Amino acid sequence: MEYCSHSAEETEQAGARYAATLSPGDVVTLDGDLGAGKTAFARGVLRGLGYGGRVTSPTFAIANEYETAAGDVAHFDMYRILDEEALWELGFEDYLDGARILLIEWSGNIAGALPARYKTVSIDYGAAPDSRIITTGEVGYENPEL
Ligand SMILES: Nc1ncnc2c1ncn2[C@@H]1O[C@H](COP(=O)(O)OP(=O)(O)O)[C@@H](O)[C@H]1O
Ligand SMILES: [Mg+2]
Repeated sequence: MEYCSHSAEETEQAGARYAATLSPGDVVTLDGDLGAGKTAFARGVLRGLGYGGRVTSPTFAIANEYETAAGDVAHFDMYRILDEEALWELGFEDYLDGARILLIEWSGNIAGALPARYKTVSIDYGAAPDSRIITTGEVGYENPEL
């Protein structure tokens, strides 16, 4: 699915709508350049899941955790997770317990640690300064063995 956003608010709204498709155990990768709107989209997802508080970038904490009406959410920024050791220190495996929704920015840095099935959101810059192309997809869902 592809959607064109013209503002940060529209990207948040797209995230809020996308939230309706999510349930605990879902892993969502959020990719795109710095400033593309990954955190804005994640903020919208949390709003859509019923979270009313502030949602900030997990840049320094790496992981921010939220309790929402639709279940627990962990929001990661893997920008500084550059090797296996850093990932191990984060305890990422423990988050893959199927009990929560994971939102993962810069998932390319942990590509080898992603589960067999996950959902993808890519945000690309559009022609105008505030326009963004948001593309959603899935990996691994077509495999009936899983
Ligand atoms: N259409 C848009 N969607 C999302 N953010 C936008 C858009 N237009 C402008 N912006 C701005 O771009 C920045 C996106 O920041 P952020 O969500 O933190 O990006 P990322 O997490 O991808 O680095 C914000 O300053 C926001 O106001
Ligand atoms: Mg971000």
